[in-house]
Amino acid sequence: MCGIVGYIGHQESQSILIEGLKKLEYRGYDSAGIAVYTDQGLSVSKAQGRLAVLESHLEQQPLKGHVGIGHTRWATHGKPSDVNSHPHSDTTGKFSVVHNGIIENYIALKEELTAKGHQFVSETDTEVIAHLIADLYQGDLVQAVREAVKKMRGAYAIAAMCEFEPEKLVTVRLASPLVIGVGQGENFIASDIPAILEYTRDVYILNDGEMAVLTNDHVELMDLEGNRISREMYKVEWDIVTAEKAGYDHFMLKEIYEQPKAYRDTMGARIDDAGKRIVLDEVKMTAQQIQDIHQIHIVACGTAYHAGLVGKSVIESLARIPVEVEVASEYRYRNPIITPNTLVIVVSQSGETADTLAALKEAKRCGARVLAITNVVGSSVSREADDVIVTWAGPEIAVASTKAYTSQLIAFYLLGLYFAQTLGMQEAEVIEETIQALRQLPEQVESILADAEKIKVYAEQISKHDNLFFIGRGLDYAVAQEGSLKLKEISYIHSEAYAAGELKHGTLALIEEGIPVIALATQEELLEKTVSNIKEVAARGAYVMGVGSEGNEEIAKAVDELFTIPRTLPLLTPALSVVPLQLLSYYASLARGNDVDKPRNLAKSVTVE
Ligand code: F6R
Repeated sequence: MCGIVGYIGHQESQSILIEGLKKLEYRGYDSAGIAVYTDQGLSVSKAQGRLAVLESHLEQQPLKGHVGIGHTRWATHGKPSDVNSHPHSDTTGKFSVVHNGIIENYIALKEELTAKGHQFVSETDTEVIAHLIADLYQGDLVQAVREAVKKMRGAYAIAAMCEFEPEKLVTVRLASPLVIGVGQGENFIASDIPAILEYTRDVYILNDGEMAVLTNDHVELMDLEGNRISREMYKVEWDIVTAEKAGYDHFMLKEIYEQPKAYRDTMGARIDDAGKRIVLDEVKMTAQQIQDIHQIHIVACGTAYHAGLVGKSVIESLARIPVEVEVASEYRYRNPIITPNTLVIVVSQSGETADTLAALKEAKRCGARVLAITNVVGSSVSREADDVIVTWAGPEIAVASTKAYTSQLIAFYLLGLYFAQTLGMQEAEVIEETIQALRQLPEQVESILADAEKIKVYAEQISKHDNLFFIGRGLDYAVAQEGSLKLKEISYIHSEAYAAGELKHGTLALIEEGIPVIALATQEELLEKTVSNIKEVAARGAYVMGVGSEGNEEIAKAVDELFTIPRTLPLLTPALSVVPLQLLSYYASLARGNDVDKPRNLAKSVTVE
């Protein structure tokens, strides 16, 4: 978590740093700060709270200068406060750093440095870095940073500057994302591309254990031993508008409405022109290697994990390969049974989630082949995996994931079909029929979105409640779990998702007069059973909103409110039924006056364990 930026060049740095931080605020918003080399020397301004608080401080007391670093924080070590905000400096104030990550051995380092006379003012692990660099400095900032990181254990993306070498920024990465933007007479550092896209499309993506030294006219990449690295520049193809709100009130709403495009882009050329076969050139496995897969583990966190639950059903029913789905933070520590015939699929929008990345590394260590489904080209996950399916959803800024989730579902449909066609598990007609249905999804989502007002009314009703339930069977249960997470994270309404048939084994005791229950009933063959479960909760006073497929009379009679989705194949319904649930969360959050895009306590990219 946390976002870092850096600027060196011919322009005033303050506004460039602030604009960059605005684009990174999704990574954390507990506090913000910048350090700029001014004619008074290295000057720092920082404040607890949203970036707007820092902006108002800077309005009173601007920092003028052409070199600077900035930070937006998601608190880990030390509560959100002015003093714990970045940048952090050493005792003399001549060295400043910003940091994304965690320094695990900071206590031992702090004790060592304190014994040498360094005085610490914050509770953070980051402050140690500034003191350590100052302690090791012997006239060469690059050398001091290199030696400092060798003493540190943990994860970091760091940008450092010092008053003795004001014409230089030094940055280094281990397990936290970092990109370098290359401009004309100016260069940039950022945790993520949108922060610098206004100024340049030419970027270097740093790998673990790499450093960069930036001056006005030059960027030099090197490893921690000082060996120069030559790297091809990456040209960013997407536009800044894609990373902005474009007239929508919130990023989340914009991203919900971008889903038809995300579906189309993710399918793109992966379906042949005749609409009969899946073409997944990025999956480098031979037919024999696919045949040799005995089991698949899908590993991910949060919403991506929920996409994995749908992925399991898709792969099992189309390709008949057994699939387990696991939360990444559990997977790596439970000694999973991984054989050379295990394919591990990691799913991550950001491609930087620490738990998922660690699970990926563990799987590789155990000899598994790893396939990644990710939304970020060049992300850590995409670089570590053997095969990568990119979901072309475009940048997702709202903390609550929407278009990334549904694009992950599309990726699973493509993969399931691809495995099925390679293994000869399905008749050609079944593949073709599924492809046809897939191609209709974008338009079907558009028709759901056209009905958003209906959901808004219901969302306003549920926003007055503190508890509610989501129920469903089969794939509906998988979607119910995603609907429940979405509602919790942005509306702060407590909700539980239950397999509809499981309620009677305990949870039914919680159903009382007026409690809202959102019942998903899109799975044709489970419909009668789900309707019985709906009746069980309705009989105990629940107020039931159903989500069912068009023309389904049975569910219409059993619920108080019904939202219908267009008909599709049962396997594909999650790509439709989740959309009203996303809208429900959005409008409930809005009705409660919450900050939809930046829910409390959360951040977009979770790069700590
Ligand atoms: C919820 C949400 C999170 C993420 C999770 C994994 O809306 O976005 O649950 O899905 O933190 O993130 P990625 O996919 O970036 O690995």
